[in-house]
Amino acid sequence: MYKKEICHFVIFFFNIVSLRLTAKWQALYLTRNDPYRYTRTINFMEEKVIDEKRQGESLVLEQKLEQKNGNQRKLFIESYGCQMNFSDSEIVASILAEQGYNTTENLEEADLVLINTCSIRDKAEQTVRKRLEKYNAVKKINPKMKVGVLGCMAERLKRKFLEEEKIVDMVVGPDAYKDLPNLLKEVEEGRDAVNVILSKDETYGDISPVRLGGHGVTAFVSITRGCDNMCTFCVVPFTRGRERSRDPKSIINEVNDLVEKGYKEITLLGQNVDSYLWYGGGLKKDYKNASEIQRATATNFAQLLEMTAEAQPGMRIRFSTSNPQDMTEDVLHSMAKYGNICNYIHLPAQSGSTRILKEMNRQYTREEYFELIDRVRKIIPDCAISQDIITGFSTETEADHLDTLSLMNYVKYDFGFMFMYSERPGTPAARKLDDDVPAEIKKRRLIEIVDLQRVHSAYRTQQFVGKTLEVLIEKESHKSNEQWSGRTQHNTVAVFNKEHFKVGDFVMVKIEDCTSASLIGEAIDYSENN
Ligand code: 5AD
Ligand code: SF4
Repeated sequence: MYKKEICHFVIFFFNIVSLRLTAKWQALYLTRNDPYRYTRTINFMEEKVIDEKRQGESLVLEQKLEQKNGNQRKLFIESYGCQMNFSDSEIVASILAEQGYNTTENLEEADLVLINTCSIRDKAEQTVRKRLEKYNAVKKINPKMKVGVLGCMAERLKRKFLEEEKIVDMVVGPDAYKDLPNLLKEVEEGRDAVNVILSKDETYGDISPVRLGGHGVTAFVSITRGCDNMCTFCVVPFTRGRERSRDPKSIINEVNDLVEKGYKEITLLGQNVDSYLWYGGGLKKDYKNASEIQRATATNFAQLLEMTAEAQPGMRIRFSTSNPQDMTEDVLHSMAKYGNICNYIHLPAQSGSTRILKEMNRQYTREEYFELIDRVRKIIPDCAISQDIITGFSTETEADHLDTLSLMNYVKYDFGFMFMYSERPGTPAARKLDDDVPAEIKKRRLIEIVDLQRVHSAYRTQQFVGKTLEVLIEKESHKSNEQWSGRTQHNTVAVFNKEHFKVGDFVMVKIEDCTSASLIGEAIDYSENN
């Protein structure tokens, strides 16, 4: 579900990683397409290592043409955290385009500055605080500039930001973006504005989002909001509320619209996509009260996947995030059945110890996780799998940590996102458990899992050498302006000489070499999909 993640990605910098393994990390992202887009901390200093250009990148409309003619006001919007937050920023920009705002990359000229915030770890919050300091410095020069905080920090810190510290003019929670026009009016009239109410049915299904900061090839389509899982470490149920699903018709309409605009790949997004369930609207937890007709006409995730795959057979389809307890065999069969659904699953394990999983209130055991992996491999033999793992959760012993390493050895993930446990105020873990694993031990365990992941990633990329794979070209390689960079359906980055191909083409690439992070090859021809 999370993420600051994704500059468009990335980026395994294994060489950089190895240099830095001696350093003290708070979190490390080994990712090709980091769904969490977070900032890593080394020696407690923030440092951008993986492709994190999007973490805090000022997001502007993808095609200048999308800037609405006649709009006079300038919006500077930055997003931190997960893909969901980036996707929400697109909804916000869309709402504000109707209010006379076009996006700008230039903070100094902005009339309105919005920061879409993340609370998942303490570090994410600290980053946002630093940015607010910067905005306030600019505000001194341009007092007409208004500053608003959006997203996951809104609820927890609204009073602090508005009343105590007085560093923002507006605080808006993730379900209140449609109220922005009213809130802006309040601000213009000199009042502080706040709306952090969480909704039972808001999914923004009726908003057609503008696209920010990409290359016009890949896009996120949000399908669920909120989360009911109540993992004890996680702040999301408190910041984003209860789980609800979006009308499949509006999802398909958005996908069709993206195809018309030339997009080639979508990622269906949600904190827990496998739990998707449309029965006419409302919270997932209220499904038990649904009428017979609602039940008979309900759409689950496997059905939604199939509908999307059939609606646009030329579009690549991905999804994120999957929770092990909710991933059904139907979904795996749908993936196997449709060539345009990518054989890649982000399947966070969090820990390899059943005891710790229980403390985390994850609804599966180590053995059940293995069974799921076996099922995936049986139904989709070449499926790429990535992980999220937390080290040093409350009460984690050395034996629990060894269980995590052995779980990794069983799965041999293609890549992963690894974090030190960061206690979040108000979560069940913060209320009931001691954050009792010393920082040094958390860090050492993190380094061990990162090291092991590096070995597994190298093993996985090596398996592709000699094969010819379809790659969707996304952008110029950051290493050479004579090469394209794209991704295979397994989400592995591949680079190759540009030849006569262009961004957005599906091409067959013969893989000749690899690093632990990416594949290097030669484009042979367009793929059938082109
Ligand atoms: N501390 C550290 N990592 C966390 N995550 C979620 N909450 C915390 C926390 N309190 C990680 C989980 C999740 C990913 C998005 O972030 O691994 O899957
Ligand atoms: Fe995304 Fe909010 Fe979770 Fe951060 S706290 S990862 S922004 S849902």
